[in-house]
Amino acid sequence: MQANIVLLPGDGIGPEIMAQAESALDAIAAVGGHQFRLVRRPIGGAAIDALGQPLPSETVNACHQADAVLLGAVGGPRWDRPDSRIRPEQGLLGLRSALNLFANLRPVTPHPALFAASPIKPEKLQGVDLMVVRELTGGLYFGRKLELPDQAEDVCSYSRGEIERVVRKAAELARTRRGKLTLVDKANVLATSRLWRRVTEDLVRREYADLEFEVVLVDAMAMHLLSRPADFDVIVTENLFGDILTDEAAMLAGSMGLLPSASLGETRRGLYEPIHGSAPDIAGKGLANPFAMLLSAAMMLRLSLGLEDEAALLERSVWDCVSAGQVTRDLGGTLSTSDAGAAVRRRLSRVAA
Ligand code: NAD
Ligand code: IPM
Ligand code: MN
Repeated sequence: MQANIVLLPGDGIGPEIMAQAESALDAIAAVGGHQFRLVRRPIGGAAIDALGQPLPSETVNACHQADAVLLGAVGGPRWDRPDSRIRPEQGLLGLRSALNLFANLRPVTPHPALFAASPIKPEKLQGVDLMVVRELTGGLYFGRKLELPDQAEDVCSYSRGEIERVVRKAAELARTRRGKLTLVDKANVLATSRLWRRVTEDLVRREYADLEFEVVLVDAMAMHLLSRPADFDVIVTENLFGDILTDEAAMLAGSMGLLPSASLGETRRGLYEPIHGSAPDIAGKGLANPFAMLLSAAMMLRLSLGLEDEAALLERSVWDCVSAGQVTRDLGGTLSTSDAGAAVRRRLSRVAA
């Protein structure tokens, strides 16, 4: 098949892990006889430095025309002045919004070979297979803001339609998995959470009565994720709660460097990125784990390009490396970013041969 893929390396470790995704996609194209047209565009701090803005219109246009978009990470201390009105993160938020990517899928599947890399006891990790569906284009991130020297406001606002469309995606996913859906909110305090709860309960009663459905308050969920993570299947929640809970969930898998994500809207075009950031503390040292980026590329092959076999092959190659201890330092290994990427590519070609 032919596909146009936009690569947005971004900042910090972004370009290092993106180089590995690019090589893996080249290898997969060769193995499967596909033509992937990969074009790089600037975003985040790199775009501020080059063009004075975090999301150049040329980058947005290229993404609109693409079949899929892969992103490394944005941000870093260089652009972190609190008084600055232009920030790298605006590039990422602007792109999610411009492409209407309201559903962010963040799977968490701890691998038995890495149980020791997690601070959680191995018996708690047995059978953990979570899919967090994070609302991505609403809530506190996108509400009206007020920023004065001595006062500030971030408005949290959600409409019925915004809630229904993302809960529907989560409920459909639950049907293809273990049939459990958990809504996480703070309905004992927040008006927006009470709306989430009403709308979700209505929708589940009307259209998804076959699912096992429960509601958990977000503070309690932060605890349950560590004390009984195997009890959950699909978790759906608002933008900020989903952001925080998935960094916590990364520790079930052993490292931030392992969690991929897919951001989807109403069309097949998606944005695929690791959940971690630009990791300025290890940037430029060859220490970054490229696996979250590679697993994000696998989600792209499956969900935007419909290449299930290729997606499964890439995932299997990553997990085989993990089983064999061919991992970077964050997982207790000794491989550099590029050696870990090369180990995955060797398996890609070996399995395909
Ligand atoms: P971070 O995710 O970048 O790093 C947190 C910790 O995890 C660090 O110790 C880092 O070294 C480690 N880590 C992250 N990814 C890793 C990988 N692939 N391999 C090995 N270790 C890894 O979070 P932070 O330090 O809070 O944020 C740094 C910058 O990244 C900030 O500017 C933030 O805004 C930005 N950020 C961007 C994204 C994104 O682009 N999607 C996501 C989160 C944070
Ligand atoms: C993420 C990141 C972003 C978010 C930041 C960089 C804007 O933390 O993708 O999880 O908060 O959504
Ligand atoms: Mn985050």
